[in-house]
Amino acid sequence: MSAARDVVCVVQARTGSSRFPGKVLAELAGRPVLRFMLDRLEGLGPEVVVATSDLARDDPVEEVARAAGRSVVRGPERDVLARFAATLDAFPAAHVVRLTADCPLVDPEIVAAVVALHLDRGADYTSNVLPRTFPKGLDVEVVRADALRVADRCAADPVEREHVTPFVYRRPERFTLANLRADLLAGDERWTVDTREDLDAVREIVARVGRDRFSWREAWAAVGPRAAPPRGTVHLVPATPADAEFFLACRADPDAVRWSRSGAPIPPAEHARWFAAACDDPAIRLRVGVLDGERVGTVRVDVTGGVGEVGIAVAPARRGRGLGTALLRALLADVAADPQVVRLTALVHPDNHASLGAFARAGFVPDGEHDGFRVLRRDPALPMEEA
Ligand SMILES: CC(C)(COP(=O)(O)OP(=O)(O)OC[C@H]1O[C@@H](n2cnc3c(N)ncnc32)[C@H](O)[C@@H]1OP(=O)(O)O)[C@@H](O)C(=O)NCCC(=O)NCCS
Repeated sequence: MSAARDVVCVVQARTGSSRFPGKVLAELAGRPVLRFMLDRLEGLGPEVVVATSDLARDDPVEEVARAAGRSVVRGPERDVLARFAATLDAFPAAHVVRLTADCPLVDPEIVAAVVALHLDRGADYTSNVLPRTFPKGLDVEVVRADALRVADRCAADPVEREHVTPFVYRRPERFTLANLRADLLAGDERWTVDTREDLDAVREIVARVGRDRFSWREAWAAVGPRAAPPRGTVHLVPATPADAEFFLACRADPDAVRWSRSGAPIPPAEHARWFAAACDDPAIRLRVGVLDGERVGTVRVDVTGGVGEVGIAVAPARRGRGLGTALLRALLADVAADPQVVRLTALVHPDNHASLGAFARAGFVPDGEHDGFRVLRRDPALPMEEA
């Protein structure tokens, strides 16, 4: 066995996608999507290994990877966490970069930046998706090998096994998390290949740039924003430090103070300090609710052990018109997009009828009392109509 490397980069790839079977072998700029991606990773410092399934239908994945000069490890199709553990056995390293082959536009500079942040912070897990500010399809995760080993030993939830890293990032009380943020909000853009339409969109990006190797900034300059924010519907965007005053304004009026857990106003200086750090803390989901380009409310979710405690506030002038309910519905869509939270809870003052109404409409159910507050809970996996 070779000496342990600092970092190994693992690209997971399989043909058995349900929405778009064989997508990693589909054609992109004259070669398979997987080959296009591996070529873009040429020159990346860490060794790149392709981890695919042991099913015969994934033999072509191995062939493509080997033709690109990459090593291949094969393992269980569904238990991708076990596949990663097997890859670590074959290619020992202190840290593992996880990439997925449906992200052919991966940018080696972002990979290097996430690794650098991870090492600098001494984190157990670092990504650029908590919160997501880069286009979807530029996802990079780095996890300490020790943490991945713990996950492999302990994770029982099929989601934690299939998606490899949720065991770690659901538990910020146990693992240190960090996040790399883009300097703009582009998290609604789809640069990934989940569907045939996505592949067309990715082909268009490559055609517009006119080369196979380019940074995400060059692609952004060529195509710009393409995801139109929905009209007439509240959607959530990650908070940035520029939203600090808006958050405070939604929490500073007498009603909001009365219904808060502390029952006391927040000192602005303390808030500013906390907010700047919280925006980039993967354990705290801070989101701004936006309706037709205007900020209408705030959502905060504190994650511990996969349970997210929710707090919402609607801008004072906008209350009583259904926006509280709309914020919660948007939150359910937001947490469905990544598996960080298995259960949402909220503590609501028993006299806060507006809040109790909004949570009930969004499918939260009573779950006892705590400290004189009603405890509400919701499984985010339940669809709205069943809630
Ligand atoms: C609680 C809050 C988020 C609710 O948002 P909202 O946009 O005002 O609420 P909605 O318009 O979605 O209404 C939700 C329900 O409460 C009812 N409601 C709204 N204002 C009410 C009031 N002042 N008194 C009684 N019921 C009220 C609505 O009719 C609706 O009831 P329904 O579902 O039976 O029709 C908002 O009022 C707020 O920001 N309050 C201050 C901060 C706060 O209390 N946050 C919650 C902490 S847990």
